[in-house]
Amino acid sequence: YEVTWNAEEAEKGGYAHFMQKEIFEQPKALRDTLAGRLDLESLEVKLPEIEANLSYYQNLNRIFISACGTAYHAGLVGKYLLEKLVRIPVEIDVASEFRYRDPLIKEGDLLIVISQSGETADTLAALREAKKRGARVLAVTNVVGSSVSREADDVIYTWAGPEIAVASTKAYTTQLLVMYLLALYLGRAKGSIEEKLYKEMVQGLKEIPQKVQEVLDAEAKVIEFAKKHLTKEDAFFIGRGLDFAVSLEGQLKLKEISYIHAEAYAAGELKHGTLALIVKDVPVIALATQEALFEKMLSNIKEVNAREATILGIAFEGKKELAKVTDDQIYLPRVPELLAPILAVVPLQLLAYHMSVLRGNDVDKPRNLAKSVTVE
Ligand code: AGP
Repeated sequence: YEVTWNAEEAEKGGYAHFMQKEIFEQPKALRDTLAGRLDLESLEVKLPEIEANLSYYQNLNRIFISACGTAYHAGLVGKYLLEKLVRIPVEIDVASEFRYRDPLIKEGDLLIVISQSGETADTLAALREAKKRGARVLAVTNVVGSSVSREADDVIYTWAGPEIAVASTKAYTTQLLVMYLLALYLGRAKGSIEEKLYKEMVQGLKEIPQKVQEVLDAEAKVIEFAKKHLTKEDAFFIGRGLDFAVSLEGQLKLKEISYIHAEAYAAGELKHGTLALIVKDVPVIALATQEALFEKMLSNIKEVNAREATILGIAFEGKKELAKVTDDQIYLPRVPELLAPILAVVPLQLLAYHMSVLRGNDVDKPRNLAKSVTVE
């Protein structure tokens, strides 16, 4: 009898791949990132990381966000939240564009850079560009002591723990969480957020790790959908508002590890060109978590349904209308709807993961990609 053992297998802790392990670690990663930042009794957000310079933050003229890939997608949600809850204009660019467009950033502005590794060359260059022009830089990163963390003025760490798989998962959801904490904290400090919404969202954040667990428990449904579409070469993700930002993350994940060509569209843009590609049996993943946009989404879903696409709809529990216009549905447990992205991305991560496994790809090390892009 011989016991075979290797360090890598041991590190995967019983999961088949690092990506799967990291997807399932999200409730813990979220809990760790919340710890100390959410006073569970008073239900107040605390961010000691920026408290010392709060007056600079309270007097901001403009916020810029810059990042790459998945971190950029977290930034898109951040822009939406900061504008909605803090009422300060936010500009966002992928880092490889920001630095070359002679950005109008100056003293009194803030650049938020988001980077799991803290070593992405373009993100670091964006940080340096902003500092050179006199702006303050806040970094959201997962690696203590990384270049980004050392050069930024302020740092808020995501406590996701090491992320090994090239496809980012728990880093993304913890980056989202930091965006929520920041928007709530600044909204409170500026008096721009209503008390009722603030309390609802804080309570929602407190419960979010458990809700993510509930979404993970619905994995079988995603596997079913993945099996149905195993041989497809194209997929489309549609959504509006926050759902569009999550759609972008879903399509990136699918492309990078399953090698299926995928595109995300703001659902209202379909008619302006993309609808020409929606034909019988094309998989469409439709996100419809935002109440004010629900009816509009339903009519977009009907448009793709009329072309006989195969549709997976994602909405909150109770949205029974969805089943009438989609082939498969995933229902998310209720949370305040601004928090939907943290839940809605989970089935998309699982979809990319299972597609990749079923197609026999190297899930953790997809072709042509590196975990950390330290060259331009
Ligand atoms: C995500 O799945 C990608 N592998 C990639 O887009 C990544 O998010 C990007 O390279 C940014 O990395 P960073 O967060 O370490 O800066």
